[in-house]
Amino acid sequence: MTTHLVGGISSAGRALPRLGGKQFVARRSEGAYVWDDAQRRYIDTALGFGATVVGHAHPVVVEAVSAALRNGPMPAFAHDGEEEAAALLTSATRHLSRAIFTNTGSEAVHLACRLARAATGRSHIAKMAAGYDGWYDDVTLGQAGSSEADMLANARPTRDRTTLLRFNDLEDVDQLFAENNDIAAVILEPMLANAGCIPAAPGYLAHVEATARRHGALVILDEVLMGFRTSFGLAANGMGVQGDLATAGKAIGSGIAVAAVVGRPEIMALAEEGVVTRAGTYSGNPVATAAVAATFQLLKDLDYGALLARGERLREGIRSAFAKHGLTVTTSGEGSVFTIWFAETPPSNYAEALGRANGAMTLKLHETLRRRELLIMPFAFGRLYVSDAHTDAIVNDMIGIFEDAAREMTM
Ligand SMILES: Cc1ncc(COP(=O)(O)O)c(C=O)c1O
Repeated sequence: MTTHLVGGISSAGRALPRLGGKQFVARRSEGAYVWDDAQRRYIDTALGFGATVVGHAHPVVVEAVSAALRNGPMPAFAHDGEEEAAALLTSATRHLSRAIFTNTGSEAVHLACRLARAATGRSHIAKMAAGYDGWYDDVTLGQAGSSEADMLANARPTRDRTTLLRFNDLEDVDQLFAENNDIAAVILEPMLANAGCIPAAPGYLAHVEATARRHGALVILDEVLMGFRTSFGLAANGMGVQGDLATAGKAIGSGIAVAAVVGRPEIMALAEEGVVTRAGTYSGNPVATAAVAATFQLLKDLDYGALLARGERLREGIRSAFAKHGLTVTTSGEGSVFTIWFAETPPSNYAEALGRANGAMTLKLHETLRRRELLIMPFAFGRLYVSDAHTDAIVNDMIGIFEDAAREMTM
C-alpha cells in the first residue's frame, strides 16, 4: 500500500485500477512488453502513453542514452548533440525549420503559446473543446469530461487567455473569429486523440487554418501525440495543414523525457532575440538529444506502411472477435493509434463521443484483457498504440486474446 506517493503514481491519468485487490506495479519494459512485480509479462498497448513507436527500451536508443549518461548528463552549456538533434528533427518538419527542445509536451505547448502571443501581440489561445494539449494553465480549459468541453447551445467557455472551439464544426470557426479579434493562435491536433481518436472531418483543419490566417492568427499544430507516429513527419502536414508553430514529443524520444517546439524562423527568432523567454535547466540536455538522434536513425527507416497495416489488422481482429459473439464494437483512429467503442459507428465529434462512451464496458474489457496479460487503458477515451516491436506474431496473439475476452464478456 502506497503511503508516501500521492495516489500511488505521479500522473493521475496513468493510474490503473486495482485488480483482485492488487495494484499493478511495473517492473520493466522491453519491445512490446511490460512486466509486473510478479514477473508476469503483458503485451502493452499503452506504450508509455504513446511515448514510443519503436517499442520499449529499443537497444539503439538505450545504448545512445547510456553513452550520453556516461559522458556526463548535465554539462549545461551548449553541447554538440543539440544541433544534431535539431537538424534531424527539422529535416522532417518542412518550413518549421527551427527548433527549441523542452522536457515535456506540456512545456512545449506553453512555449508555443507564448511565441504566438509575442508574434501577434494578441492574447487569446483558441483550443479544441475536449482536446488535450498538456496540463499547463493556458490549455487546461475544456478538457474531455469537463462541463466546459460540452459547449452546450451557444456557449463559448472562455477563461483568462483561453477560449474554446467545437472540433469538426466548420461554422463554429467562423463564429469564433467573428466574436473575438484577440486570438493569437488556434492550437489543433491532427485528430482529437485524447477524446477517443476522433478524426478531423475532411477539409476541417484546412478550414481552421485558412480562417485563422484571414484573421491574422497563427496555427499551432500540437503533434505531441501524433507527430512521427503515423508517418515520418507532422501528421497535419499530410492533411494539407502547414502551421506556423508545432509541438512534438513522445515518439521523438522513445521514452526519454524530451519534446520540442518547431516553427517558422521569423517566429522562433523572437526567442533568439530574447523577446520571448525560454529557459529550463534540463532543456535539450545530452541524454534527451541523444534519445532524439538515435530515435530518428530508427524512424527514418521505419516501415510506417507496415506498422499501419498491422494496426489495421488488429482493429479488424478486435471488431470481428466481438462480432462472433454478437457484440458490436468499432474503432476510431489510425492504424497504430486507435480507440475501441462499444457502438455501431465511431464518433465524428465530441458530443457523439460522449454519447458512445461506455466506461463500464471499457473497464470490464481492461480487466478481462489484463487477466490474460494484455494491457489497454482502462477508460473510454483511452488509446491503443501499436509499435514496430508488435510483430505480426504478437498481433496474432493479441487478436487471440481479444477473442477469448469477447467470449468471456458475452457469456
Ligand atoms: C496532444 C498532446 N499535447 C500535449 C501533451 C502533453 O505532453 P506531456 O505529457 O509530455 O506534457 C500530450 C500528452 O499526452 C498530448 O497528447
